[in-house]
Amino acid sequence: MIFEPFTIKNITFKNRILRSSIGGRTSFYDGTVTSAWKNFEKRFAENDIAGIISATITVDERRWSPLEYPKISNDKFIKPLREGIQAVQKLGCRYILQIGDGGCQTQTSLFPQEEDGKSSSSGFDLLFGYRNRSTEMSVEEIEQTINNFAEAARRVREAGCDGLEITASKGYIIHQFLNPAINRRNDDYGGSVENRFRFLQEIVKAVRQKIGSDFLVGIRLSAIDYNYLPVNIRLPIVFPLRHYFMGNGLEETLFYAKELEKLGIDYLHISAGYGFINPKENPGDFPLDEVRMFANSTRHLSLKANVRATLLNALPKPLLKLILARGWKFKPGINAEYAQKFKQAVNIPVIANGGFQQKDVIENALREQKCDMVAMARPLLANPDLLKVFQEGKNEPEKPCTFCNRCTVRTVNFPLGCYEPLRFSSQYEMEEEILKWSATLDVS
Ligand SMILES: Cc1cc2nc3c(=O)[nH]c(=O)nc-3n(C[C@H](O)[C@H](O)[C@H](O)COP(=O)(O)O)c2cc1C
Repeated sequence: MIFEPFTIKNITFKNRILRSSIGGRTSFYDGTVTSAWKNFEKRFAENDIAGIISATITVDERRWSPLEYPKISNDKFIKPLREGIQAVQKLGCRYILQIGDGGCQTQTSLFPQEEDGKSSSSGFDLLFGYRNRSTEMSVEEIEQTINNFAEAARRVREAGCDGLEITASKGYIIHQFLNPAINRRNDDYGGSVENRFRFLQEIVKAVRQKIGSDFLVGIRLSAIDYNYLPVNIRLPIVFPLRHYFMGNGLEETLFYAKELEKLGIDYLHISAGYGFINPKENPGDFPLDEVRMFANSTRHLSLKANVRATLLNALPKPLLKLILARGWKFKPGINAEYAQKFKQAVNIPVIANGGFQQKDVIENALREQKCDMVAMARPLLANPDLLKVFQEGKNEPEKPCTFCNRCTVRTVNFPLGCYEPLRFSSQYEMEEEILKWSATLDVS
């Protein structure tokens, strides 16, 4: 089934494999994409991937997400995006642009700024974001953010994309409203499951009003939040404790899915977990060295970031692994069963995400109707020609992705690419491969 075409709304994909969002430093300081971005995206299109879902591209001009990541918060970003998108489409690959807003999970910034701490409610989160604490958004700020999403959606359409995806997962701003441990508001945007959904609902309505009902729009949702993973210190503690430790359960996210279907959403893209990085979304090893590196590179931004880095440097590795590596292990197609629950609950296509690499795992997920399409990130970063490997009848590539998660964390500081030493014969070979991805010269 992998090679069977699939149509969502009016867009036909030539097979069932999508490149999932991979964000990295592919832009100028102001957020305009460089040719490194175009070259990066084209590499998947050249290898027969049916469609690309872009990195989360920020809708907010003020929140960097992170530095040198692309933005879509201003009309000036449309033209350079359009050029790259056309280059991808010429190769027969569809392009879906994912929009989002990190809210208080904005990890890096040139200088610390207030805006990077905005969230549904105020609180403290040691692991995610760099601001000492998050600050509750006013209703005016909520309305501004809804408008940001709608304007960004218009730009997505004007850039010539085949579709738009709105991320309501990863612990980003929409997720910060959905998650009952983060959202403690007493107004219309907090409390009951209906109220927590209101922010997303208003975004979808504003987006549809701006771009019409004929344009493909999907939502990326976390099936279950598993707030207790990755291990984190988050305050205040929220009651009932189920909300604090789990966040949204399946019942709540299925409710969101049904509401989204009623609102005219065209597909759901299912992963799990709250926050990036996350063992439920990026199953595999916990990359402690990379996390330390990241913490050190952001420690100047706030007291919290400094304390976080100090703790990570001071505590011995075995102890840190014991605490932080809890829940991190690889499971093939980790969210396929969740995707199936959504497929059974709604009548719109469902994309499953996380831990797919082997042909038989993908085939089974499709055949058993767990999902309609599969989205992949790390295995394609390691082997962009994965589909050719399948066509040759092999179940997995010779040097498969080991799900070491080095790429997942390094992306904030280093060029995008595979950083698993075991996949290369030398450091030189690894760097050469990474440089191929990040060439800023136009190699078209
Ligand atoms: C380097 C890297 C960057 C990522 N950037 C994003 C992103 O910008 N937005 C997003 O929604 N997911 C992002 N992800 C998550 C992936 O889209 C995907 O959900 C995750 O890696 C699990 O899929 P996989 O097992 O196929 O890698 C990123 C993953 C990696 C490895």
